[in-house]
Amino acid sequence: MFNRFYQPDLDIENLEVTPHLVLSSREELRLPLRWIAILYGRVTADLALTTGVHQVEDVIKGIMAGASVTMMASALLRHGIGHLGTVREALLHWMEEHEYESLTQMRGSLSQKSIAFPAAYERAQYVQIVGTLDTGR
Ligand SMILES: Cc1cc2nc3c(=O)[nH]c(=O)nc-3n(C[C@H](O)[C@H](O)[C@H](O)COP(=O)(O)O)c2cc1C
Repeated sequence: MFNRFYQPDLDIENLEVTPHLVLSSREELRLPLRWIAILYGRVTADLALTTGVHQVEDVIKGIMAGASVTMMASALLRHGIGHLGTVREALLHWMEEHEYESLTQMRGSLSQKSIAFPAAYERAQYVQIVGTLDTGR
């Protein structure tokens, strides 16, 4: 969750379909993160998170939401295959610093079922957020 579908553009002057590749940004992580957190513990399947995983924090968030694995495409295209090793090292370092012994210990700890305020994952939060929004007007 969720595969990022290929989205070609249309050239309306030359009447052609034009290839278009936009690499993902970290902002896009939040959609799969929310759905993994909601589904964790409710479906009898492993959940794999894709879209917006670029740095170690994104991997940690994915695992804590409940993902069995997190996947990377754009970050590897941007930084090269060596980025995998960098993120792995950073993950081990983070886990040691925060005294986690395994990914299993982290997995699902911030899923909807595990947190004290499950409504935090619900749409109703829009209402509260809008109340605190600074629109600069
Ligand atoms: C160059 C490239 C090729 C891809 N090819 C496929 C593909 O053949 N099938 C597929 O399901 N997804 C494909 N994807 C989508 C990725 O699997 C992934 O869902 C998407 O890039 C989001 O992850 P990211 O944020 O790590 O890039 C491709 C992505 C890129 C950038």
